[in-house]
Amino acid sequence: MNPQLRKPVIAGNWKMYKTIAETEAFFTGIAPLVAGPSHADIVIAPPFTALRRAVELGAPIGIGISAQDLHWEKEGAFTGEISAAMLRDAGCRYTLIGHSERRQFFGETDQSVNKKLKAALGAGLIPIVCVGETLAEREAGQTEAVLDRQLTQGLAGLTEAAFSPIIIAYEPVWAIGTGRTATPEIAQQAHAFIRNRVGGTISPAAAQRLRILYGGSVKPDNIAGLMAQPDLDGALVGGASLDPHAFADIVRFDRKR
Ligand code: PGA
Repeated sequence: MNPQLRKPVIAGNWKMYKTIAETEAFFTGIAPLVAGPSHADIVIAPPFTALRRAVELGAPIGIGISAQDLHWEKEGAFTGEISAAMLRDAGCRYTLIGHSERRQFFGETDQSVNKKLKAALGAGLIPIVCVGETLAEREAGQTEAVLDRQLTQGLAGLTEAAFSPIIIAYEPVWAIGTGRTATPEIAQQAHAFIRNRVGGTISPAAAQRLRILYGGSVKPDNIAGLMAQPDLDGALVGGASLDPHAFADIVRFDRKR
């Protein structure tokens, strides 16, 4: 593998946190910390209500904005839902798809992930597709089978060209919001499995270019160890992305080595 092929991505997932005023305070705080060209693509996923303001404040400092979810239809009678075209219209460049909280609490399935993925790609959004096993699945030795199923069904029906913008986030459910990060070795093992799997189903070249992020209790003090792994190309950060200083420290992981 040649890591030079893959620009790191550090993405923050704010979940259901931050008003517009809090979004403004975050960008004011982080602007001087990440100014100038970056070695990484920096992404923030605010709640829908703060997307537009985040786009305005992120653009001048090179922070791309992501949605946390979308609906697969273009428009229609789907109360409460938001389409890929609406997200593009608001200035989003990315969208999360299949986050484990969507899977656990809101009925997200591998099939809905696949439909959302195709809608996002069709509208020109860069999808960040989340996969990962629960604690029970890991303890039962099913990690690879779960990842295999999520990738097979979630990525079904994509050509190599359609696949190329996709970013995958490996987020073991037992590590999310628990303070229990996967060790760099455990993360590396899962990332290598995912890359291999994509090599077999899409193409070896697509696998080499694929950026795979780790998510689950990423903090300023564990990012460098994670990023030292050959198949780890960035992070999807929840809790620590809410604070501009902590998030900037994660973005600047390369200065800590
Ligand atoms: P966490 O969340 O960093 O708070 O564990 C990660 C995520 O859910 O994307």
